[in-house]
Amino acid sequence: MSLNIQSEIDIMKVASSKINEVDFENLTFGNVFTDHMLVCDFKEGAWQKPAIKPYEPFLLDPSAKVFHYGQAIFEGMKAYKTEDDSVWLFRPDENYIRFNKSAERMCMPEVPESVFLDGLKELLKIEKDWVKKGKGNTLYIRPFMIAIGSGVVAQPSTQYRFMIILSPARAYYSGEVKVLVADYYSRAANGGIGAAKAAGNYSGQFYPTKLANEQGFQQVIWTDDSTHTKLEEAGTMNVFFRINDTLYTAPTSERILDGVTRKSLIDLAKREGIHVDVRPVLVSELVEGAKNGTLKEIFGAGTAAVVNPIVGFSYQDTYYELPKIENSMALALKEKLTNIQYKLAEDTFGWTV
Ligand code: COI
Repeated sequence: MSLNIQSEIDIMKVASSKINEVDFENLTFGNVFTDHMLVCDFKEGAWQKPAIKPYEPFLLDPSAKVFHYGQAIFEGMKAYKTEDDSVWLFRPDENYIRFNKSAERMCMPEVPESVFLDGLKELLKIEKDWVKKGKGNTLYIRPFMIAIGSGVVAQPSTQYRFMIILSPARAYYSGEVKVLVADYYSRAANGGIGAAKAAGNYSGQFYPTKLANEQGFQQVIWTDDSTHTKLEEAGTMNVFFRINDTLYTAPTSERILDGVTRKSLIDLAKREGIHVDVRPVLVSELVEGAKNGTLKEIFGAGTAAVVNPIVGFSYQDTYYELPKIENSMALALKEKLTNIQYKLAEDTFGWTV
């Protein structure tokens, strides 16, 4: 469905902005939201007219399917501001495509590009003052869709709400990240919804992550559900391992999210001449590498966290601390990636929009 978004979007602005109440230097991730949000409902088999309106709570029927069956998907994106005050997105098409793949897997309607991408650009025009200049400052973008149709019969809803909310953000993690390698709990299974950005994929991690937190670990490295021998994702991020000077990461699959940061880092690393091996990495290789000193780095990669070095991991009650290294590949790749995102380096890939 194609909409001419400028003429067909309803825009209602706030009487006064709350931007001056926000301490942009001391943000904790995902707690502050901008003045406006985008809302578009699906009913009677069609997307309705989208609206940009003041950010505010809304009412739903207590029997709405999202509450009972978790029919909910989301994306994570960021906007960046350059010194000339222009606002940039990073590979937004990738998020749009992945969103609709998630929608298909969760039996939800496809969202038109004119609502998701053009709607986002309109919203960003209105909220551009919330995107602060300077590396590290971003506006985190959260598009999501929920099933709003009422009735507790366990079947897909016929009514949905697509929304975009925006949150000024800096770092996702503060402090060192130590991880626990899962040997019992799983994040995803073959034939399941692991590759979709479905809400339940994240809430299913809360309990095992809470247990890991109690033992002093910030995140869990997920392993394959059937054998727990292959390393798959780190918490809410994709995960990379540097053994000697080769970078390893698991191939995407129906259990692993096709991360935009992940695929960008692979391309960047290859361009830098780094040998990248995309193949299943075994827990035994990690343990062996930690013991013989060939395991140099582990890092998570995702939109919210960008590139997050992991300082050590625990597997079956043994903790392995990684060596402190001078020339971190993780930090070098992060620098290259963020330079492109903030337009501080030439974007030869054509990723910025
Ligand atoms: C992101 O990295 O954008 C994500 O969606 C992960 C989320 C849990 C913050």
